[in-house]
Amino acid sequence: MIITIDGPAGAGKSTIARLLAQTLSEQSGKTFEYLDTGSMYRAIALLGLRRHVDWNIAGQLESLTKNTTINVNNGKTFLDGEDVTELVRSPEVTEKTRFAADNPAIRLIMVTLQRSIAEQFVRCGKGLVTEGRDQGTAVFPDAPIKFFLTATPKERAKRRLKELQDCGKQGDFNEILRRITERDLRDTSRTVGPLRIPENAIQIVSDGITIENVVNQMLQKIAAEK
Ligand code: C5P
Repeated sequence: MIITIDGPAGAGKSTIARLLAQTLSEQSGKTFEYLDTGSMYRAIALLGLRRHVDWNIAGQLESLTKNTTINVNNGKTFLDGEDVTELVRSPEVTEKTRFAADNPAIRLIMVTLQRSIAEQFVRCGKGLVTEGRDQGTAVFPDAPIKFFLTATPKERAKRRLKELQDCGKQGDFNEILRRITERDLRDTSRTVGPLRIPENAIQIVSDGITIENVVNQMLQKIAAEK
């Protein structure tokens, strides 16, 4: 079974997808894997930074991508065999990821890879919780359960600020809010694989709701679909 979770940046998709996969595994006795597709685009951006690509020449990043192996396993992201899970979260990588995500040829490679990862899991009798921007619309439009997880920009900015403060870092609320709004615009206006509410998706707005509560809502919907 494939379960998709799409939504904007900062809606808590990664944490929730991981927890949902873990809970479903515990409850059903069948292993549910978790796929963070944003980390795959991030890994390509990291590669571009390391190879000093000219970001204005789309073909450069594209040919690097064709000659690279991206792997996602057990919540970890590998670039040519190297574990880059932490490295892809840096602000430099976040800033450059749009060059991978906005490139149609790179998207096609990622979508093909995501489908083959899913096929492999399903073949081995596993389930999959996959999260991103286009999972329920373009990659797995036939998935039996699709969620669209969102929160207002202000709520997402507030959470991001708290995350920074919890790590002893400073942040400016208005600047964080500006960046979130900018990413929303970029994600929804992309010509290939834009962020959209998938057909038949269950929408959850997580303002003021705990992570556990969101996961419980999802579990109830999944149980009701069976
Ligand atoms: O979710 P995360 O912030 O890690 O994603 C990084 C970037 O990759 C996002 O800004 C988004 O534009 C892009 N992305 C995408 N399609 C996906 C997942 C992420 O275009 N399926």
